Amino acid sequence: MSDASARARAPLIAPSLLSADFLRLGDEVRDVEDAGADLLHVDVMDGHFVPNLTFGPPIIAQIAAVARRPLDVHLMIETPERWIERYVEAGAAWLTVHVETAPHLHRTLQQIRQAGAEPGVVLNPSTPESVIDYVLEDCHHVLVMSVNPGFGGQRFIPRVLGKIERIAEAIARRGLTTRVEIDGGIAPDTIGSAWRAGAEVFVAGSAILSRPPGAARAETIAAMRAACAP
Ligand code: DX5
Ligand code: ZN
Repeated sequence: MSDASARARAPLIAPSLLSADFLRLGDEVRDVEDAGADLLHVDVMDGHFVPNLTFGPPIIAQIAAVARRPLDVHLMIETPERWIERYVEAGAAWLTVHVETAPHLHRTLQQIRQAGAEPGVVLNPSTPESVIDYVLEDCHHVLVMSVNPGFGGQRFIPRVLGKIERIAEAIARRGLTTRVEIDGGIAPDTIGSAWRAGAEVFVAGSAILSRPPGAARAETIAAMRAACAP
């Protein structure tokens, strides 16, 4: 990361509710907020684009009803353009689609903005950053997957750090405010390398929510922030 001015923004920590105890979802939301979450990351999986299934708009609306932080909704679904308005109505503040699912990406990003959410794109680990070259100006955020999507608790893929550097450089070169987000295997021991590469938003599921509610989660989030010190 060559542009020191981008470091003027503090890291944002987004615990992923994928690793929550779903029977106690409301308590889990309050607990990670009290522990220091800046955003709540919500993983929507359809069993087609990714080999796993989670939840849809009704449960997200219930989360939104108790949340005090913005919902960062990560759509891992085919034909996301059919669902955008439903997810924004449910409470998505940030809404992110995989480039691998969106052949008309420019149109889909406008659709998200018109629906009232901050639009973002996600790149799988094997997807090159060149696919977003012509839509970077339309992205509030770019989410770089550092695991293959579908499951929590996987191992961080360090090779994506170069991709983050190249996206962050393009953002700085064009004078944009777009934030780079990273998702997968983020923990106190991996977050520093992603921060130094230029990421500013950090999704972490198992690293935070596998800890017991309360002080242990707050300690983990504090350790993540400390690892992003300049
Ligand atoms: C994976 C999801 C992630 C997941 C990350 O498909 O997009 O948000 O919750 O989990 P960890 O942090 O455990 O790798
Ligand atoms: Zn995610």
